[in-house]
Amino acid sequence: MANFLFSNTDTVKLAEKYGTPLYVVSEDIIVERCNEIKRDFTERHKNTMAVYASKAFLTKEMARIIKREGLGMDVVSGGELYTAIKVDFPMEKIVFHGNNKTLNEIEMAVKHNVGRIVVDNFYELDLLGKVAKKYKKKANILFRITPGVDSHTHKYIRTGQIDSKFGIPLNENIIHKAILKAMELEYVELKGFHFHIGSQLQENETHVKAIKIIASLMNEVKNDIGFITKELNTGGGYGIHYNGNEHRKPLRYFTDAIMEELEKECEKYNLERPKVIIEPGRWIVGEAGITLYTIGSIKNIPGIRTYVGIDGGMPDNPRPSLYNAKYEALVANKMDEEPKNIVTVAGKCCESGDILIWDLKVPYIESGDILAVLSTGAYNYSMASNYNRIPRPAVVMVSNGKDRLIVKRETYDDIIKNEI
Ligand code: LLP
Repeated sequence: MANFLFSNTDTVKLAEKYGTPLYVVSEDIIVERCNEIKRDFTERHKNTMAVYASKAFLTKEMARIIKREGLGMDVVSGGELYTAIKVDFPMEKIVFHGNNKTLNEIEMAVKHNVGRIVVDNFYELDLLGKVAKKYKKKANILFRITPGVDSHTHKYIRTGQIDSKFGIPLNENIIHKAILKAMELEYVELKGFHFHIGSQLQENETHVKAIKIIASLMNEVKNDIGFITKELNTGGGYGIHYNGNEHRKPLRYFTDAIMEELEKECEKYNLERPKVIIEPGRWIVGEAGITLYTIGSIKNIPGIRTYVGIDGGMPDNPRPSLYNAKYEALVANKMDEEPKNIVTVAGKCCESGDILIWDLKVPYIESGDILAVLSTGAYNYSMASNYNRIPRPAVVMVSNGKDRLIVKRETYDDIIKNEI
């Protein structure tokens, strides 16, 4: 019987060794992606930087890998920053995001000298000015700008349109006011701008449109108030393969388009090309993760549908119920059997919407089979919950046939540990 190998590791043996549900993350794939980023972006173009958007997947071990591979890290909360601090991540390579950072988070960022704070609004600029002054520490910042481009992706993960909770709206008066205000603040230094237009993008055209808009802004603020843009952070959003015809494109499909457009626009306006930062999350880690489940109940409604029950579901992967996300899966212990039956993979939550995959083609399926859901590396572990008081799965890192536990499985005691 042929078992599914992931990073040369027998996934059925992993399920036996660690139990299910189990997140399995391939260090090999993460390193491959980091190498592509270095080869095709940071080493190919001068004055660039790549940061990993850690919201996609973050554990101490992941932070150590990103540190070792030499990328920076984007964090959006005190918790993500704390994880980076705990592994001695170089703070100058941290980019701190968020549309409503708390006073505590701002203090934490300033005290630890994070490299860039991406300021989202006036309230935050004001708070940051006070905190930086209090600690007598210089805060290097970018302004997040909403460029007003609409990306073709699920509306919950679209962020570039004008009507968005993120960023400073693209309005001359507002932006001028923000720049002038930043210039007044003694301990704050504005380096440039940031935009992020959405996630799981299949095309580069919205990045190109945003570059055009931001380049025009760079020209305007230079002419009007003498502000020189030294840095431009172009966000992440590069799509990956989940199912069907959606495919991960090489990094250069996005980054070459960004660089070419920016160079062209800078030439047009006679501006010096700023430092360019990219911050992919999903593209680095999405396909590097799979989730293993054990199949339990099988319910056949004659002529209608077969529901196959797994020992996880929306608590470990909320994306199908939240975004109608589609996944591919295979029966890990039956790789040599032909898929000829159609089943629906149902999660174990008390909720009709907890369906992981509708109409999946599988070989003859039995209770006890191991189901491997693919491309679960991004926004699964990081978005997991304890709904129905289900403990979070363990996370195992695999690399060329070897496995190591990086996050222990939660216990029932973990679930009640803060309760009084
Ligand atoms: N930079 C900023 C400022 C972001 O807001 C994001 C994602 C990224 C970078 C990384 O985007 P990526 O390269 O991973 O697409 N939970 C959703 C995705 C939310 C993304 C939020 N921001 C999902 O499961 O699809």
